[in-house]
Amino acid sequence: MNIDLSGQVVAVTGASSGIGEATALAAAQAGAAVSLAARRADRIEALAKKIIDGGGRAVAIPTDVAKEDEAAAFVQRTRDELGGLDVLVNNAGVMLLGPIPGADAGEWRRMIDVNVYGVLYTTHAAIGGLLEQGSGHIVNVSSVAGRRATAGSGVYNLTKFGVNAFSEALRQEVTAQGVRVTLIEPGAVATELREHNRPEIQKQMDERFAGVEKLKSEDIANAIIYAIGQPDYVSINEVLVRPTKQVG
Ligand SMILES: NC(=O)c1ccc[n+]([C@@H]2O[C@H](COP(=O)([O-])OP(=O)(O)OC[C@H]3O[C@@H](n4cnc5c(N)ncnc54)[C@H](OP(=O)(O)O)[C@@H]3O)[C@@H](O)[C@H]2O)c1
Repeated sequence: MNIDLSGQVVAVTGASSGIGEATALAAAQAGAAVSLAARRADRIEALAKKIIDGGGRAVAIPTDVAKEDEAAAFVQRTRDELGGLDVLVNNAGVMLLGPIPGADAGEWRRMIDVNVYGVLYTTHAAIGGLLEQGSGHIVNVSSVAGRRATAGSGVYNLTKFGVNAFSEALRQEVTAQGVRVTLIEPGAVATELREHNRPEIQKQMDERFAGVEKLKSEDIANAIIYAIGQPDYVSINEVLVRPTKQVG
């Protein structure tokens, strides 16, 4: 892809691993200045150093996006330290699978706090400035699970269906004023996401995806860079990317 993001500031949540890390790196390689949010400060600081050592601009901002004040501070510090904000990639997320009966309600709260409130808080902090400047882009990383509910994934589905609905409503509110909204819906990607699940759940996931060559984080980063690299009058609203052999 020959996309030039020089002069743009791209803020990425969940930049300490997986899709967020790959997206931040790809945006920096395309010339953007990037701000990196996640709770693991050491990981985003190392990524920022790698980008800066390679001649790019980056700032690591340790952030828990589930906390409204920290999410707002991430957006504000991005503007203060990188001179503006053009693209917000709401990528931070957790996926804690398992059946609804007998579930740990704490896991539900974690998913809703990060996958839903995390997206709302950063968007809330960013959107006023984007509307004022009459340009900008919000990219929300949802999932195939945001379009298709399955047994054992109910609350993760709830959070991602919510992100889909919110993204479309937001798009209708801001697109005529020059602010673009893109929904990215990955299928199975090889990242740390599955590792936060109980061992028996990980086993079920492995069985579900047996024989499927999973996507790499870079495949989703490519889709995000493609969407944000389009001319201002082109709005890529939705991108659904599955591994070829993923059926459901
Ligand atoms: N992997 C897949 O198969 C797949 C498929 C569809 C959609 N997705 C979505 O893709 C997104 C990225 O996931 P991934 O697959 O790249 O998994 P990952 O490697 O586990 O990355 C998740 C990222 O979210 C961050 N995060 C979690 N809680 C956070 C919080 N409270 N505050 C700030 N950051 C937080 C993590 O950083 P810290 O732990 O350092 O905070 C990490 O950087 C998620 O929204 C996920 O739902 C993934």
